[in-house]
Amino acid sequence: MRLDVLTIFPEYLEPLRHALLGKAIEQKILSIGVHDLRQWATDRHKSVDDTPMGGGPGMVMKPEVWGPALDDAAAGAGPVAETLDLTTASPHLSAPRHDDLAGVDTQTYETGDEDRSKPLLLVPTPAGKPFTQADAQAWSTEEHIVFACGRYEGIDQRVVDDAANRYRVREVSIGDYVLIGGEVAVLVIAEAVVRLVPGVLGNQSSHQEDSFSDGLLEGPSYTKPRSWRGLDVPEVLTSGNHALIDRWRRDQSLLRTRAVRPELLDAVELSAADRRALEQG
Ligand code: ADE
Repeated sequence: MRLDVLTIFPEYLEPLRHALLGKAIEQKILSIGVHDLRQWATDRHKSVDDTPMGGGPGMVMKPEVWGPALDDAAAGAGPVAETLDLTTASPHLSAPRHDDLAGVDTQTYETGDEDRSKPLLLVPTPAGKPFTQADAQAWSTEEHIVFACGRYEGIDQRVVDDAANRYRVREVSIGDYVLIGGEVAVLVIAEAVVRLVPGVLGNQSSHQEDSFSDGLLEGPSYTKPRSWRGLDVPEVLTSGNHALIDRWRRDQSLLRTRAVRPELLDAVELSAADRRALEQG
């Protein structure tokens, strides 16, 4: 997978070199280019924004800067070809870890009937469609994703409209709050997507049991010791009875979802045992 990020704050994207993403870079599953948008600015002040047409507060990012930047990002040309890719922050252990068991089955997801030869352009904005785990799954099979980080009051809308000639474009929000710019949203989306790329997470059941992957929140987890500060691990988890443990985990998931995000339950198909757990819990 190839990720290109266009931003006026390249240093904000430094975390992409660390941890799991850094390791994916090292394993050559992932390559990332972070590009300073000011390289496409044409005036002597390298300005990337201007006052809003029609008046109002703040500044809007200029189409003459974003247009050529996105052209180059789609084609891997110009300054995009010249920036060095991110390197991993530190070498990772080559010995397998418990969560690192290689050999993940490729999963297929609904991708629609669009022209997949065009790269995917993701434009983070609080005015976008909510980003979900289903998006992360769908985008984990993309070859090339370009992220356009807006600042100020956003990017001139014509940039997004014009980009649809060269990209499949998605305007996405990571939640109902307003950040200063799209950079943090890119970190969120990139991490959610890359961990699902086959081979990155190793143990495939780690993400099959994720919150949201079955429409429910994940229940609580425990490790050793069995007793800690007077608190015991639930006894069923030490029983060795896997059917019972699976049922207990499902029940915990159902109860937590009802307590925290009850609206999610509406979309879940409940078995008779599920209903019983909810009645009794
Ligand atoms: N940029 C500013 N706020 C944002 C949000 N909530 N989601 C995505 N991008 C943003």
